[in-house]
Amino acid sequence: MCGIVGYVGPNVDGRALDVVMEGLARLEYRGYDSAGIAVVDTARDTVATEKRAGKLENLRSALVTHPLPDTSTAIGHTRWATHGGPTDANAHPHRGGVDGKLALIHNGIIENFHALKRELLAERVAFSSETDTEVAAQLLAREFERTQDLTMAMLGVVNRLEGAFTLLAVHADAPGVVVGARRNSPLVVGLGDGENFLGSDVAAFIGHTRHALELGQDQIVTITPDGHEVITFDGEPAHGTAYEVTWDAAAAEKGGYPTFMEKEINDQPQAVADTLLGRTDETGRLVLDELRISEDQLDAVDRIVVVACGTAAYAGMVAKYAIEHWTRIPVEVSLAHEFRYSDPIVSPRTLVVSISQSGETMDTLMAVKHARQLGALTISVCNTHGSTIPRESDAVLYTHAGPEIAVASTKAFLAQITACYILGLYLAQLRGGTYADDAQAVMKELEGVPGKIADLLTHLDRVKEIARFMADTRSVLFLGRNVGYPVAMEGALKLKELAYIHAEGFAAGELKHGPIALIEAGQPVFIIVPGPDTPHELHKKVVSNIQEIRARGARTLVIAQEGDEDVVPFADEVIRVPHTSPLLQPLLTIVPLQVFALHLSTAKGLDVDQPRNLAKSVTVE
Ligand code: F6R
Repeated sequence: MCGIVGYVGPNVDGRALDVVMEGLARLEYRGYDSAGIAVVDTARDTVATEKRAGKLENLRSALVTHPLPDTSTAIGHTRWATHGGPTDANAHPHRGGVDGKLALIHNGIIENFHALKRELLAERVAFSSETDTEVAAQLLAREFERTQDLTMAMLGVVNRLEGAFTLLAVHADAPGVVVGARRNSPLVVGLGDGENFLGSDVAAFIGHTRHALELGQDQIVTITPDGHEVITFDGEPAHGTAYEVTWDAAAAEKGGYPTFMEKEINDQPQAVADTLLGRTDETGRLVLDELRISEDQLDAVDRIVVVACGTAAYAGMVAKYAIEHWTRIPVEVSLAHEFRYSDPIVSPRTLVVSISQSGETMDTLMAVKHARQLGALTISVCNTHGSTIPRESDAVLYTHAGPEIAVASTKAFLAQITACYILGLYLAQLRGGTYADDAQAVMKELEGVPGKIADLLTHLDRVKEIARFMADTRSVLFLGRNVGYPVAMEGALKLKELAYIHAEGFAAGELKHGPIALIEAGQPVFIIVPGPDTPHELHKKVVSNIQEIRARGARTLVIAQEGDEDVVPFADEVIRVPHTSPLLQPLLTIVPLQVFALHLSTAKGLDVDQPRNLAKSVTVE
């Protein structure tokens, strides 16, 4: 994780500092253990830095009492701690060289830093932090002394580093230059007019330019006010891929809501609608141009493995029910970190579908790479253009949720489920058979879902009220069956991460095999009830489950379809959702649970957008 910003441009009106601080504010979701800035101070022939543990606000206050000099060249960092605790000393930037004229920031982990540090210590290099980053800073300063060229110095260092990293560096003897390097960690270039930018993602510079350049793996980029140059880690000239950013600055801001999470919950109708856009031709047939895998290869698939983490894995569990039903292809869902270090059985006919909002989750990336090495076909369902996982996959199906800034995922979840439905329907269409004909009808129904989510969002006042009353609750359980089961797990996850309350999601049928022992008088339990038209009489079975826990004193908070009167006698509260066919229900049933977690967290006075101990993009294993 960690957010990274770099800037070179004119030295006027404090612009460099403003750009970097604004970029850090937009990237703070990536980590908020500390923040820091380094600027090239040409007047004093040095690099000036200011850094503080804690949120960006601390750095902002420090800059009032200790202002940095005017500059044309600046880098900034917002940290999610890995090596070394969240202290001022461990905050980035880190200096290198006896004269401290070099400053470096880093995202990722340098796995061989112990060996490198030993080497530097033997040469009497002094360290002032516990970080792996400072080792890279000292190595880079040493290479700069030898080469007197920041790009060549970076080239000399990157091949000595193992692990995942994005590095940005400035040097007092190279004013007007920022050099960046990336391996398995994100870095994009923003191309301006007389100024250029670097960022962990485009949010870093979206207020200034929409022209961006995606860098390849193992590349070094050098930006000056008038240009940029890219080389590979072998020193060969390279080119990034230019693209236009379609998100606007407002989309990356709160849009009038008190928190990003509330905004993003309200963005959900749009996220689903945008993800559905452009997937069918004029006859209504699904066309997935961006997939880049031949129809023959897809047709040969005999097994699907979904790899993902957290919320994305719950989207994968929903996908399993839908894809198996529509295609009759067996689908397994594996937590990416478990998949990678098991001994997975895959063949060229196995399709590994990774799901990731950020496209940078290291656990998921490693699973994808492993699957490819074993010969599987890989498709990435991803929300972030230019990120690593789609690039490392054979094909990508982008979700179009727009930037998700709040650490807890909401709109990306709905967009991921939607994209998985599209993939399942496409595979069904390719194979022919019963559900091929249904694909168009399901797509039609999906098109109506955003309106239903928007409607549902205007009817959740009672949920907000219940959340406020429950601010002192210590434990909440969630039950569901079939596609309601991953929704129960996701509802519990939202509550854990936002409100720090013990919460667990169970398959409702599993209750009697143990968890029912947890039920005592007053225990709040959310139950996600499938629609009465769900096959296998699942509706009836869940209504029985509600009766079982109610009889033992549970307080039952029932999420049921409009018109479902069977639940009423056994519910302490009924939360209504609009009707959809059974497999599409998660797009609606999760919404009240997100709103519940948001309002309970707010009632407890917690930081909804940046819950403790978490970071948006988990780029370490
Ligand atoms: C929970 C949450 C996480 C992520 C997980 C995967 O609200 O956001 O569980 O879903 O870390 O992240 P991505 O989707 O970026 O791979």
